[in-house]
Amino acid sequence: MKSVKFKIILSGIFLFSCIALLAQQTNYPENLYIYPYLQYATPTSIIIKWETKIQVKGSVIYSEDDSFDNTVAEASPVKIHEIKLKNLKPATKYYYKVSFEDTVLEKASFTTAPVPGTSNWRMVAYGDNRTFPETHRRIVSQILKLDPSMVIHSGDLVSDGNNYEEWKIEYFDPMKGLSENITVFPSLGNHERNSPYYYEYMSLPDENGESFYSFDYGNAHFIALNSNAMEAPFELNSVQTQWLIKDLKEHADAEWKIAFFHHPLFRCQPTRGIEPQRWVWQEIFDEYGVDLVVNGHDHYYQRTYAIGNYQGKPSRGIYHIISGGGGANNYPIMPKVHAASRRSIHHITVLDFLGDRIIGRAIDDEGNVFDAFVIDKKAENSPEEFISFEMFKIERDLSEAIINLPLTQLEKTINVDQSIEIENPFLHPVLMTFYWMPSGNWTTNPPATNILQPGQTIKIDFSADSEKNNVYPPPKAILHFQTPKGKMAFKNNKVEFFPVKIGQKKKVKPLIVKKFPVIDGDISEANWDKNAILDQFNDVQGDPPVQKTEIVVSMNKKRSKLFIAGKVEASEEYSNRGTTKRDDRFIRRDEQVKIHIGVGTEVYTYIINPKGALLDTQDITIFWNSNAEIWNSTATAAARTNQDGWQFEVEIPLDELNIMNGKTTINFSRRDVENNTEYEYSLTYGKSQFDHRVPMYSSDWFAVDRFADLEL
Ligand SMILES: [Fe+2]
Repeated sequence: MKSVKFKIILSGIFLFSCIALLAQQTNYPENLYIYPYLQYATPTSIIIKWETKIQVKGSVIYSEDDSFDNTVAEASPVKIHEIKLKNLKPATKYYYKVSFEDTVLEKASFTTAPVPGTSNWRMVAYGDNRTFPETHRRIVSQILKLDPSMVIHSGDLVSDGNNYEEWKIEYFDPMKGLSENITVFPSLGNHERNSPYYYEYMSLPDENGESFYSFDYGNAHFIALNSNAMEAPFELNSVQTQWLIKDLKEHADAEWKIAFFHHPLFRCQPTRGIEPQRWVWQEIFDEYGVDLVVNGHDHYYQRTYAIGNYQGKPSRGIYHIISGGGGANNYPIMPKVHAASRRSIHHITVLDFLGDRIIGRAIDDEGNVFDAFVIDKKAENSPEEFISFEMFKIERDLSEAIINLPLTQLEKTINVDQSIEIENPFLHPVLMTFYWMPSGNWTTNPPATNILQPGQTIKIDFSADSEKNNVYPPPKAILHFQTPKGKMAFKNNKVEFFPVKIGQKKKVKPLIVKKFPVIDGDISEANWDKNAILDQFNDVQGDPPVQKTEIVVSMNKKRSKLFIAGKVEASEEYSNRGTTKRDDRFIRRDEQVKIHIGVGTEVYTYIINPKGALLDTQDITIFWNSNAEIWNSTATAAARTNQDGWQFEVEIPLDELNIMNGKTTINFSRRDVENNTEYEYSLTYGKSQFDHRVPMYSSDWFAVDRFADLEL
């Protein structure tokens, strides 16, 4: 009985919400396009904006009580209205009504910003509401329950900033109830596309054309940056970053300094790399005492430990919060040493300022608190709660150094004997220990410890030996940093890295076939003899693969056509989906095998997916850039699923490859979508944008010197 009653109540609430939502969306007074919304609240002024369908003169009446005895009217007719109310009292609630033609809108209210220095107030941060107005609406109703003084938005207000309708549907309409009564301070997301609509709809401090700006609110100074690197350069000498430094110097006295922008500097998402602003802005935030950074772009919640430069003693550091749960689809997350809390969920973050403390809570779209924290101005972080920024630089520089090392060729045995030198980023002495983890048949050099003085480079000598048949996985080395006395210095005190890169001279000699196979996905014509199947692929990291890929290569008697047949292990889900169109760039999302044929330094690539779709290209930008010129060969392909995954066959005419122009090489790489990794036949040790391992490898499409020799 109880559950039935509960259900009835629930459906009642649901129905009521739907009606309420409908009413909000349809009950628009004639000629009103976007309801009034507040902009740029200060202690003594505020901006009220709205949009009408026609050009018309508008006005605002307002007062502290119900008298509405103050009026500001526009001088000329417009569609996007903007009225600034001045000479207001700080921290004071005013009522206002907007009117145009014969329409007088229902009354709304705003509260001016508190007296500068006010130490007790509340704000909400969120972002990435784009594309899903209904979820955005739920998020807005959670914000309304908290009744904050103001809201900051970390960007991606709409799916496509150049689409006029989306501003209403995705951003403004779901904001009804909030935006008339509470000021929202936005920063630019990538989805705004730097569109003129953003600048028309927003009225922000405009010394930098509203692209980036700062303002004071209560006892805090806020800086909104533009992290869209293409539109707003961020390098140290850029206009934006020089302005940032100047602004932080001018507001050195602010009790709290908070920066917000779209792209996060420290993320916990497996499928995105490092934003380049990390290397510039984090150091500036640290030097000039920024307390908190709020970002979006990644659709989940993450709160970091304090991140900063190691001071040789406990210190404060900067907290970075990703609060990109405003409505768009949530993203996967993974453990990271810097992430103190993380959850892939629609949410907002509320911050209560209480003098020298900020009490924060992360709240989901149903109102449940799932993270709570205190940022205490007076507290210094223990090593267990402090992340050394220098360690990120060590990871970056170690990766780069290893990427640049030559491969050690696999003969009967393998003997690695190399050394790496990188810059020491620490400005205080640290105790550094280098050691290897025990690994299979590998014999490695003994541990080494030394006190690293500031300015002294980090030098690591390493040697590792193994037998030919036992080289995978390659051994793992560790750099461990402590205080000179051997105590814990910071939480991220170890770097695991993989300095061994094994090169293997491989060759592919196609079998000559009398009758050339029919390209129909039936691969039984290929010779699945053990000797004809190419060696097992490896994960690009040099690890054994999670899933198997088998390839057989043949050629016709005239040596004019290559025939490649493959069997790919994959789960049913991934084997059954993918594009069916030829040369569809969305093939990058699919399970796939890439065939790379090198002729001299030229590389021809053929990508095939479980649906038999083929994309042939000589240019990796085809994958990402829909305007890139595509190369069309006369190659044909077919595929079908089987009980272990999928199988394919591809016919490649050789006469269009200019094979007389140089040495021919071949490589195969296979994208395993389920495990988010790539396998290769010949390991190329290309550089990846990800940072989950040191170094992180990807398949290099153009490393012809690391491909197998193709003997035609
Ligand atoms: Fe984004």
